[in-house]
Amino acid sequence: MIRAEIQSKCFGAKQVLDPITLEVARGEVLAIEGSSGVGKSTLLRILASLDDDFDGRVEATGRMSMVFQEPRLMPWRNVGDNIRLTTRATAGAIGQMLTRVGLAGHENTYPRALSLGQARRVALARAFVVPPNILILDEPFTSLDPDRVADLLVLTRELIDSHRPATIFVTHSRHEARQLADRRAELTGQPARLVSKTGDMPQMQTA
Ligand SMILES: Nc1ncnc2c1ncn2[C@@H]1O[C@H](COP(=O)(O)OP(=O)(O)OP(=O)(O)O)[C@@H](O)[C@H]1O
Ligand SMILES: [Mg+2]
Repeated sequence: MIRAEIQSKCFGAKQVLDPITLEVARGEVLAIEGSSGVGKSTLLRILASLDDDFDGRVEATGRMSMVFQEPRLMPWRNVGDNIRLTTRATAGAIGQMLTRVGLAGHENTYPRALSLGQARRVALARAFVVPPNILILDEPFTSLDPDRVADLLVLTRELIDSHRPATIFVTHSRHEARQLADRRAELTGQPARLVSKTGDMPQMQTA
């Protein structure tokens, strides 16, 4: 479960977020859409406790995995080590997860030899290899080809159904949001607030 009550978030004199309340239960997926620069990554960093310089509070229980907007692999470590060092997963689990994201046998490949799409799949494998209780995804499927996105949507859904993390999924794609999410919201305005697009978040305004 993750619950947040944010009053405001500023960068210097610039206020990026207005009051935002959200709660995502175990097994539930909330998709957040919003235009570029509106504050989606800023909100996710707060939810992931990577930023504590804001007014408000976040309560999160259990192990959290985050997929960042950029794959964030350590260039001096191969794929297997990139996954192992942050998750302590076994070689067997890493091999299986790489196979599931379409990168079977790439444990010893270095990030510089990966396309952006492949690096994104490594980032997803790293997030999924030890099942999280909370899953935070920041545009994880951008720059992947449509067939691969379809496969990874299925994989993400399977993971959610079997391990039931509370999932927050930022995407520019309405299609991905519809496919994966139970509830959809939009981050909008300046400073930004969260507006429900599915009308089922009593604590939020409805679009
Ligand atoms: N470290 C920072 N210092 C100052 N301003 C920042 C910082 N990080 C983000 N901002 C500003 O906050 C606003 C929101 O940025 P954010 O990265 O959260 O947007 P976003 O919705 O994730 O956009 P995108 O869809 O392009 O990823 C932008 O105006 C950005 O310039
Ligand atoms: Mg962003």
